[in-house]
Amino acid sequence: MDASDMGEDLTKVLVDADQIDRRLDQIAAQIDRDYAGRDLLLVGVLKGAVVVMADLSRKLHSPVEIDWMAVSSYGSGTKSSGVVRILKDLDTDVHDRDVLIVEDIIDSGLTLSWLKDNLETRGASSVRIAALLRKPDAVKVEVEVAYVGFDIPNEFVVGYGLDYDERYRHLPFVGTLAPHVYSD
Ligand code: XMP
Ligand code: MG
Repeated sequence: MDASDMGEDLTKVLVDADQIDRRLDQIAAQIDRDYAGRDLLLVGVLKGAVVVMADLSRKLHSPVEIDWMAVSSYGSGTKSSGVVRILKDLDTDVHDRDVLIVEDIIDSGLTLSWLKDNLETRGASSVRIAALLRKPDAVKVEVEVAYVGFDIPNEFVVGYGLDYDERYRHLPFVGTLAPHVYSD
């Protein structure tokens, strides 16, 4: 599957599959070093983080557990409001655990900022964040992201887990969606 299979839905490939693969190798090596000798719990945020979780976790040499949350931001359309509702909670008790939240993208930062506070309130001994993508120009609240794959422009992107209307998640690369797809 490549960009040409998407016809005119995408204006460009922003990050290709090889770039993602190489960056995740580096991030996994860093996580292995940072958490050596500790029991790490990876928390993925459904649904967007499924692909990055699958690829990143398989590059780790340290033993980890994986759990999932689904959250939704109240607010209109594609903008998050910072008011977050848990749709599916963790099965794991995070008390005294080292937690690494794995996300597809950090946009305004509102969702991750809320989630980090939420897990800290439950007594996690540490909560850090890994995000494949970050849009520095969209930030509304500063959230420390320990591991960032790529900083990207403030454009709507899809692929590698990210969707528009549940489509494009399966693309092995990250691309910019053509405006005609969401305007008509
Ligand atoms: P905040 O603004 O709270 O939002 O950091 C993060 C969530 O918003 C979604 N999001 C996107 N989804 N392409 C997408 O497919 C994008 O460009 C995009 N920007 C934000 C995403 O669900 C993320 O978890
Ligand atoms: Mg989405």
